[in-house]
Amino acid sequence: MHQAVISGTGLYTPAYSISNEELVESFNTYVRAFNADHAEAIARGETDALSESSVAFIEKASGIKSRFVVDKAGILDPRRMMPRIPERSNDEWGILCEMAVAAAKDALQRAGRSAADIDGVIVACSNLQRAYPAVAIEVQAALGIHGFGFDMNVACSSATFGLQVAANAVQLGQARAVLVVDPEICTAHLNFRDRDSHFIFGDAATALIVERADLATSSRQFEILGTKLLTQFSNNIRNNFGFLNRAADADGLAADKLFVQEGRKVFKDVCPMVAELIAAHLHETGLAVSDVQRYWLHQANLNMNLLIVRKLLGRDAEPHEAPVILDTYANTSSAGSVIALHKYQDDLPSGAVGVLSSFGAGYSIGSVILRKR
Ligand SMILES: CC(C)(COP(=O)(O)OP(=O)(O)OC[C@H]1O[C@@H](n2cnc3c(N)ncnc32)[C@H](O)[C@@H]1OP(=O)(O)O)[C@@H](O)C(=O)NCCC(=O)NCCS
Repeated sequence: MHQAVISGTGLYTPAYSISNEELVESFNTYVRAFNADHAEAIARGETDALSESSVAFIEKASGIKSRFVVDKAGILDPRRMMPRIPERSNDEWGILCEMAVAAAKDALQRAGRSAADIDGVIVACSNLQRAYPAVAIEVQAALGIHGFGFDMNVACSSATFGLQVAANAVQLGQARAVLVVDPEICTAHLNFRDRDSHFIFGDAATALIVERADLATSSRQFEILGTKLLTQFSNNIRNNFGFLNRAADADGLAADKLFVQEGRKVFKDVCPMVAELIAAHLHETGLAVSDVQRYWLHQANLNMNLLIVRKLLGRDAEPHEAPVILDTYANTSSAGSVIALHKYQDDLPSGAVGVLSSFGAGYSIGSVILRKR
């Protein structure tokens, strides 16, 4: 068995950002127009009036202040309220591929590697743009990587699950290095007309180079001490979009064909599961909670992360112990914890232990214990 390391991380951040103020103004314009258009039906009690959203609620309930997006104008247009992403011809690289390649180039550069050093590509993300061919194979072609590529979807936990598969391949000698990329266009599956969730998501792509330790040369290496994954079925985060919609004569644009959640139930169910999984994983690895210098947690909700770390440490975390990126990125699904790792690693001394952890739909939870080399 070979030792596997993460030898480089990469990030692609879209060019546009939407503040809570801009998002709420667009949402409330839509609400006022809806209520005016349906005034008579609302007065007769046949239609429920819609309620306005609020910047103060969003920040207090989630910690989110803004989000990066691949398209701003389409989302903020109160008559559209979804990103505008024109279809591309089959001869052009797709938008997921393009984002993945940008993040991958950043990771390759930081790992001091080129396409020739990589033997496999895993695209691990929540929303894949087509059934086939796999986006990973397109990324492979765009970067000029030989070997294999395949796609994986474990919703918000796609990156940690992908990391385990990549680490296994490297440990078993099936690949010298594997590129794991997480291109997330979460705004395309978000219902911007739903007050409960219209503020939740943003877009981004991340990349990880998982490499054999004896071959790695980069100055930024993390040994993968172990991975532990858990899934438990739940309908509390769900999206019914899929290829069977057509055969069911279903409305492909109905609300359930977008992201839907019972946020409060998710919060209550998932926090204890994450804290227990991380604690058990540390214990099995011969480490104590006090040995961990950093938690790069999934970035969905600030209050969730504070609670998880409080459960683990028995006290409130210092900001540097569980860095936050969701204030400016919002929830970028599987990319979130990797963005935190990417942005908050350089200050750690050699030998420092950190935990990368994801949680989300499935439910799915991943814990990856890393030690800086
Ligand atoms: C989604 C989430 C931020 C909502 O926060 P919450 O505190 O649970 O809020 P609730 O949905 O219970 O709503 C509380 C109140 O605010 C209101 N509210 C909801 N959205 C609002 C908005 N945009 N603006 C103003 N008020 C709003 C609700 O109507 C409710 O009012 P009521 O008390 O009069 O009924 C939170 O539950 C969450 O993040 N959960 C975890 C979700 C998660 O991690 N999902 C993973 C996704 S991959």
